[in-house]
Amino acid sequence: QANQMWGGRFAEGPDAIMEAINASIGFDQRLARQDIEGSRAHAAMLAAQGIITDKDAEAIREGLLTVLSEIEGGSFQFSTALEDIHMNVEARLKEVIGEPAGRLHTGRSRNDQVATDFRLWVRDQADAAIGGLEALIRALLTQAEEGADWVMPGFTHLQTAQPVTWGHHMMAYVEMFSRDLGRFTDARKRMNESPLGAAALAGTSFPLDRQMTAEALGFDRPCANSLDAVSDRDFALEFLGAASICAMHLSRFAEELVIWSSAQFRFVALSDRFSTGSSIMPQKKNPDAAELIRAKIGRIFGANVALMTVMKGLPLAYSKDMQEDKEQVFDAADNLMLALAAMTGMVSDMKANVPALEAAAGAGFSTATDLADWLVRVLGMPFRDAHHVTGSLVAKAEGQGCDLPDLTLADMQAVEPRITEEVFGVLGVHNSVASRMSYGGTAPERVREQVAAWKARLDD
Ligand code: ARG
Repeated sequence: QANQMWGGRFAEGPDAIMEAINASIGFDQRLARQDIEGSRAHAAMLAAQGIITDKDAEAIREGLLTVLSEIEGGSFQFSTALEDIHMNVEARLKEVIGEPAGRLHTGRSRNDQVATDFRLWVRDQADAAIGGLEALIRALLTQAEEGADWVMPGFTHLQTAQPVTWGHHMMAYVEMFSRDLGRFTDARKRMNESPLGAAALAGTSFPLDRQMTAEALGFDRPCANSLDAVSDRDFALEFLGAASICAMHLSRFAEELVIWSSAQFRFVALSDRFSTGSSIMPQKKNPDAAELIRAKIGRIFGANVALMTVMKGLPLAYSKDMQEDKEQVFDAADNLMLALAAMTGMVSDMKANVPALEAAAGAGFSTATDLADWLVRVLGMPFRDAHHVTGSLVAKAEGQGCDLPDLTLADMQAVEPRITEEVFGVLGVHNSVASRMSYGGTAPERVREQVAAWKARLDD
């Protein structure tokens, strides 16, 4: 039996394999709400333009609401023979309201329909990402405020570099996640144009009011070129691009949490709520949420590459290849939201081990730069010479198996006779961070300013 939607020229129905490869209903049923919203806007516009009667439009409107409640209530029977969500909805509408259902598709194609539905869906996900990022940023700000003066080691090459404050480290992620938030906001702005009314590819001879449907669906304006409207998926790719960068940030932080929660570091205790145990080793408390965030990010990168690859060779306008856009984005969005929520939970719950952070902050000659800076400031040495002298002092301490502040004044003077007792004042980690008062620096005072600035921005 030929297809009831487009089978006019077909004598035979599709092979079972054809049906299987062609059907997208298994996944695009997630677009049901957007599809029905789009159809309602289209029907109302058709009536307003006198293309269909008000009576038919009203029947369509009522019928679509019935179909939506069936789908949301779980009683809707999805059919693979009807390929996708668009035809499933329309076929059911016909069963519910009869003849007027056939008028809904006037001046419309599945090409502009799916482009519209998918934009609406991705737009919602951009909003969800923005909300998720805001929550994460707030959790980071709380940590930063509480620990504005806790000292910890700052690393380069994962080797001790200079002491920093806990608050400063948290605020570094606030900066990163805020840029992610900005990327989703930008992408949302750019994607917010309506493809509806572009029809198959060329526009339509019916006097559609595309402005009206655009407005009804919350778009800023209709897409200006019908070919472009139905054939690009750059809005989804921008979402995936922003998601990939955000995921990369999440993964770096997750990696730090894995390291920090180890018995060797003991920088943080993750909460029981965001950890798991081992079935054999009774002592274990594993940072699984962080590990899963680190791993799930792979899917998001994968989705980005997959959709780029689907799109890259397609001639204008629509090709069926583009049906493969959805699953990737669904999966990436689901996992991004989950990762954001899990990270927010971990960050809110985690307890910094302040004594362990402070002990680690002083290890590894972390104040060597402070010593070199002192030689410059007080003795007027050129920095390169000061660097060299300090290096000799580090070697001396290393030889004696002690830290820099443990050297005696005599040890120091043996290397540079002009060094005085005063130098010990700069070798402490608290002095070190307090002295980093340059704009953007790690000094507690600077960190508190940044926390306050970000809070004000968020509340704006
Ligand atoms: N299910 C299709 C998709 O997701 C809808 C558009 C189909 N258009 C067409 N001309 N076959 O892309």
